[in-house]
Amino acid sequence: MRMLNRILVLTGAGVSAESGIPTFRGKDGYWRNLDPAKLATPKAFAKDPGLVWEWYRDRRQRIRNAQPNPAHKAIAKLAQHAHEFLLVTQNVDDLHARAGLPKEKMVQIHGDIFVTRCSRCDFSRNEPEQEYEHPPLFNYGVAGEREEEEVNLPRCPRCEGLMRPGVVWFGEQLPWDELRRAENYLEDGPCDLVIVAGTTATFGYIVDWALRAIANDGELIEVNPEETPLSRFATQRVREPAAIALPRIVDELVISRSSKL
Ligand code: OAD
Repeated sequence: MRMLNRILVLTGAGVSAESGIPTFRGKDGYWRNLDPAKLATPKAFAKDPGLVWEWYRDRRQRIRNAQPNPAHKAIAKLAQHAHEFLLVTQNVDDLHARAGLPKEKMVQIHGDIFVTRCSRCDFSRNEPEQEYEHPPLFNYGVAGEREEEEVNLPRCPRCEGLMRPGVVWFGEQLPWDELRRAENYLEDGPCDLVIVAGTTATFGYIVDWALRAIANDGELIEVNPEETPLSRFATQRVREPAAIALPRIVDELVISRSSKL
């Protein structure tokens, strides 16, 4: 194996699955029988911001209670052994960072669940580690029915607009700065190795980045129990959970690399 000079890793929800964070498209992704694909939309937020906030607060709390798993740790380890390294994750959780991957080696292309931003102006803030203890979002009537008046929806301190989670919803643009960082890395040259783990690769840009990065002769390792649109381009397909496969793959890469030094 060649020296690992430049590595790109692309991750999705499957990498956090073994930390107990439900994926989007699996059966566990449903929340109160609601499809996340229908909650994570500007339309859902316009229709029922309280419901969407409840879902995100629930997800935030789950993430706070979760721990990075061996897949996150393996990726952080790989970063330490590469001359140049970038992770582009679609995950909005902070588990890659908590596993020790420096922020400058990571792009969160679908945003950050712990950012709360105004839906009207450009105000945003990072939520403190320990947010309020799930305050009620609605007044409940005597019969336990949710009443019409919404209370406690976060409002912008600058313009009074409704605050929203700092994540990318279906149909929205990718955050410009993060997009630029991913593009710059690709423009700087091809990669020896691309690892794509735990994503259905439904978005064209994920497939495009992986293929651009390997260029003519880079290695593409896919880690996913299921087939994806990227599978046919992979030089190695690993049909195992990421928390099992990635530590082994990274150890093999690190050992084979150090034996060449
Ligand atoms: P999905 O929920 O679409 O897919 C999860 C992928 O992980 C599937 O391909 C599974 O086969 C795989 N998987 C499940 N468990 C795994 C495990 N233990 N190890 C490895 N792989 C596993 O999640 P994403 O592809 O990340 O975007 O979804 C992409 C985007 O769609 C999300 O960021 C989100 C969603 O809608 C937005 O909200 C904009």
